[in-house]
Amino acid sequence: MPARILDIVDHRRDLEERVGRDHLLEQNEAQLGDVLGRLEEEAGNSFSGYKPGTLIRRIARRMSLLRQSSIEGYLRTLDQKPEERQLLMQDFLIGVTQFFRDPEVFESLQAKVLRPLLDIDQSGFRIWVPGCSTGEEVFSLAILVAEMRQSTGDTRPWKIFGTDIDIDALRQARSGRYTEASIEGLTEERREKSLAAAGAVWQVNSELREMCVFAPHNLLQDPPFSKLDLVSCRNVMIYLNADSQETILPRFHYGLNPGGFLWLGPSETLGRSERYFRTLDRPSRLFQRDDQAPPGFSAISHSLPQHSVTGSRPPSGSRRRTPDPPTAWRPRPNSSSCSTAPRPSPWSTAMMRSSMSRRR
Ligand SMILES: C[S@@+](CC[C@H](N)C(=O)[O-])C[C@H]1O[C@@H](n2cnc3c(N)ncnc32)[C@H](O)[C@@H]1O
Repeated sequence: MPARILDIVDHRRDLEERVGRDHLLEQNEAQLGDVLGRLEEEAGNSFSGYKPGTLIRRIARRMSLLRQSSIEGYLRTLDQKPEERQLLMQDFLIGVTQFFRDPEVFESLQAKVLRPLLDIDQSGFRIWVPGCSTGEEVFSLAILVAEMRQSTGDTRPWKIFGTDIDIDALRQARSGRYTEASIEGLTEERREKSLAAAGAVWQVNSELREMCVFAPHNLLQDPPFSKLDLVSCRNVMIYLNADSQETILPRFHYGLNPGGFLWLGPSETLGRSERYFRTLDRPSRLFQRDDQAPPGFSAISHSLPQHSVTGSRPPSGSRRRTPDPPTAWRPRPNSSSCSTAPRPSPWSTAMMRSSMSRRR
């Protein structure tokens, strides 16, 4: 009997989601623009560079939960309830993640990227993980690096920058605390070496947390990090439209050191930006910077691409000094790192122009 009731509830929800979705599709993009406009006013964060299908499904889901079948009614709710604007924004961000997501490709990363990096004569290494959500991907990389340092005896420092626009997710990442369920992707051995029980949850150990810095950063609006050996941007571009993807990839090319590496998610490709990278391992989505490719992004004179992806960006051709991110995304002074000591903003010249010397 309970199963039957659940069936009815599911059916009803499904129907309502479809009604909301179809209604929105029929109402054309103007209605979607109206919804996005309200969120942009709230957080200065534009979703106009995301795939509309995903956004529409998310709006329909929220409408269904609120038992609303008209988009006009939902727009009124957005106007009246700031908490609904926050909830919709959270739904748009889709922060699904886990430790060692796709474990087999982590092995390729170890063999084809991390190990070879150790052969380079430089004083330290830098990884950037844009769209890091609650930090599992960042700590997975830190675990791999720690294991490699232990097995090779190489003591050179690694810094892993995890960034996202989801401030709540970053807060959790910084704490390094995870539930039993969320560490399922870790082997027994890794769990013992990398985490310690902290009451009802587990906390990543301080050695790994010291290696990682978390900060707010909008991939579509803020200038990229630089002097990087690896950019691991997994399962983020899948939610972005082709223009946004074309905005981001030249920025990664710009931010990487010569011969630096790019790692994408299993369903992501270089799309229209193939000229910036050569393929290292297609199934694992590992790419290497093509150093012959002319830059598609300039930090000094042209921080923005030709096509407008976000509503809050200056018009094409306008100039903006690169190290100044939009105020809305400027990190609080002492909140950008896992450790408690205050650290500089990730956009500070000191951080972007790392003192790590490098000879390839
Ligand atoms: C599905 S999660 C991916 C998490 C992790 N990279 C992984 O593969 O497990 C997508 C993340 O991208 C973030 N994101 C979406 N748009 C972004 C943007 N414009 N700039 C930075 N992060 C963004 C979301 O907040 C979310 O945390």
